[in-house]
Amino acid sequence: MTIPMHQKARVPGEFDRVAARYDLLTGMNPGYSRHLRKSAERLSLAPGARILDLCCGTGLSTAALVRVYPHATIDAVDASEGMLAVARRKNLGPRVRFSQGDAMDLAASGITGPYDGVLMAYGIRNMPDPDEALRGLFAVLAPGGQVCFHEYSVADSRRSRLVWQAVANTIIVPSGRLLSGSADIYRYLRDSVLAFDGVRAFESRLARAGFSDVHTRPMDGWQHGVVHSFLARRPL
Ligand SMILES: C[S@@+](CC[C@H](N)C(=O)[O-])C[C@H]1O[C@@H](n2cnc3c(N)ncnc32)[C@H](O)[C@@H]1O
Repeated sequence: MTIPMHQKARVPGEFDRVAARYDLLTGMNPGYSRHLRKSAERLSLAPGARILDLCCGTGLSTAALVRVYPHATIDAVDASEGMLAVARRKNLGPRVRFSQGDAMDLAASGITGPYDGVLMAYGIRNMPDPDEALRGLFAVLAPGGQVCFHEYSVADSRRSRLVWQAVANTIIVPSGRLLSGSADIYRYLRDSVLAFDGVRAFESRLARAGFSDVHTRPMDGWQHGVVHSFLARRPL
């Protein structure tokens, strides 16, 4: 069974089930952490910035932020307690605070900002209502603040869709089943990437949400044309 696209609220619960093996699987993905650091760098924040790592998972994106901005203050938020438990064990330092929260309702989770930068890595695709999530994210950014969505997007290119389907079907889903005992979240990953906005559609979505300076930068390796840094700013 995969998770139906209209039941994305189930996603954090599925991550609870695979949390213990999550880093093992991402470790097999060449470039995973290096690409997160690239997106962190592309935020171009000041050394002492206040940063939100939204949908931080096991803290791999948080670790990328700590590497790039060792003097920043980082709030790292995720809905899955299982993923957060793995993240907390990494002891990423005194400037990092992990907390449970819902990216669909940041205010209710006590996340009010303002932040100079937000990194949302592999998060926006999982939101039941991405426009509503963008409104909440916009509200916690300081004026002039920068956001980076590090995300898969393949809808604009036949080659990208084929590469993604090949990698997902031959590596990600079978390895996920083998390592975590459940392929549900990995089949959902495959299908949700295919269903997600193309680059142009997501850029338009960001512009409609009020962001300025919207632009997209690529990754290298097999992820070229598949994973992107979507960058945007809250206008001053
Ligand atoms: C693929 S993981 C990404 C983790 C991390 N950012 C990384 O780059 O490795 C996606 C994470 O989003 C979280 N998530 C999904 N829906 C969420 C929501 N509504 N609010 C907060 N976190 C959510 C999941 O629990 C999961 O840990």
